[in-house]
Amino acid sequence: MARGKKIYEGKAKTLYEGPEPGTLIQYFKDDATAFNAEKKAIVDGKGVLNNRLSEFFMEGLNSIGVPNHFIKRLNMREQLIRQCEIVPLEVIVRNYAAGSMSKRLGIEEGTQLPRPIIEFSYKDDDLGDPLVPEEYIIAFGWASQQEMDDIVALALRVNDYLSGVMYGVGIKLIDFKIEIGRVFEGDFMRLIVADEISPDSCRLWDIESGQKLDKDVFRRDLGNLTDAYTEVARRLGVLPTNGPAAANSVIN
Ligand SMILES: Nc1ncnc2c1ncn2[C@@H]1O[C@H](COP(=O)(O)OP(=O)(O)OP(=O)(O)O)[C@@H](O)[C@H]1O
Ligand SMILES: [Mg+2]
Repeated sequence: MARGKKIYEGKAKTLYEGPEPGTLIQYFKDDATAFNAEKKAIVDGKGVLNNRLSEFFMEGLNSIGVPNHFIKRLNMREQLIRQCEIVPLEVIVRNYAAGSMSKRLGIEEGTQLPRPIIEFSYKDDDLGDPLVPEEYIIAFGWASQQEMDDIVALALRVNDYLSGVMYGVGIKLIDFKIEIGRVFEGDFMRLIVADEISPDSCRLWDIESGQKLDKDVFRRDLGNLTDAYTEVARRLGVLPTNGPAAANSVIN
């Protein structure tokens, strides 16, 4: 498929103009970054796995009526998506304490929360994506009150779906982050799930052993990141035969 000009090169993905107006091609790179890109590495095969995993989760969400940007996968590293106007927030849903929440509140990682907790950070790399209260979001006009209500409802549906799918393959969904975009259909505006859903943007712990199967493996030097993501993909039946090495040899 014809790939248009490059629109944006991010830390983990590159966006190109798509074949039709209102579409983009999202290319998944092998670059891994953490701590606002202070830590960087190339992780062979990560992009291939995240492309497949994001496809799997977005298609699953679509099948239960949660609107999202995924249109179709094009090849090992690229997918066609609907272009949207990204709401400048990271929408974080937590089921168990971990990461920054544990640090901030002194709660041991893995402690179950009384209910899913949603928090928002303002997407600004220079500021380090600071956590912001909903009042800031409304006051500064990053999203309206109505949109915030819709975003919370969407995030909770994604949480229920992802928690269930993960539980089914012996994985606990500790927390995750999504991005939301606006699409315009005539006079109407709708919110959809955008960006990606992958082990880069979730915390996933094996239920039995507690082993981490997400980007914390990279952040905390716990082992081989590709192996962890391959395990998630294998359990979900996303890569039934070929590992990322095989995938990599086909396209790079
Ligand atoms: N459907 C979409 N339409 C438009 N932009 C999108 C869509 N989905 C994701 N994006 C944006 O594409 C970029 C993806 O690249 P990547 O995740 O590598 O960026 P990043 O380095 O994390 O930067 P950012 O701080 O902007 O997220 C992000 O800026 C994301 O907000
Ligand atoms: Mg990103």
